[in-house]
Amino acid sequence: MAYTEKVMDHFANPRNVGELPDANGIGEVGNPKCGDIMRMYIKVENNVITDVSFKTFGCGAAIATSSMATELIKGKTIDEALKLTNRAVMEALDGLPPVKVHCSVLAEQAIKAAVADYYTRQGIDPTPFVGKIEECDHEHGCSCTEC
Ligand code: FES
Repeated sequence: MAYTEKVMDHFANPRNVGELPDANGIGEVGNPKCGDIMRMYIKVENNVITDVSFKTFGCGAAIATSSMATELIKGKTIDEALKLTNRAVMEALDGLPPVKVHCSVLAEQAIKAAVADYYTRQGIDPTPFVGKIEECDHEHGCSCTEC
C-alpha cells in the first residue's frame, strides 16, 4: 500500500510545527523499536486546547500523523482530545500502510502525555484522566489500540 495523498501532503507540509513558547502542557513519547521521538505542545485555556504544535524526530508517517493530530485537537476540549485514537488520525489521513500503523500510536500517546503534563502542572494527578502512558513494542501485548 502506498501512502495516500493526505499523508504525503501532511508529510511535505506539516501543520503546526515547532515549539509553542507559551505551552502549558508538553508531552514527549518515543517508540522503543524504531527510536523515533514525538513531542507535543499544548496551550490550554478554560479546558480548551487553544493552540498546539509538535516536533517529531521520526519517519514520514510519524510526521504526518503528528500534523493531522494537531489539526484534529486544536480548539477541542481536553476530554475530546483524550478521545482521539490513532485509528481516527489514520482515517483522517485516508489510511496508512499496515507496517506504519504503530507510528500513529505515537501521536495518540503524545497528546495524552501533553495533557498529563498539563494536569501535573495544575497540581492535579493526571492518572484518572489519562491513564498510564505506555511505550508499546507491540510484541508483548499492551493497552494500545493496536494490541
Ligand atoms: Fe518510527 Fe514510524 S518508524 S514512528
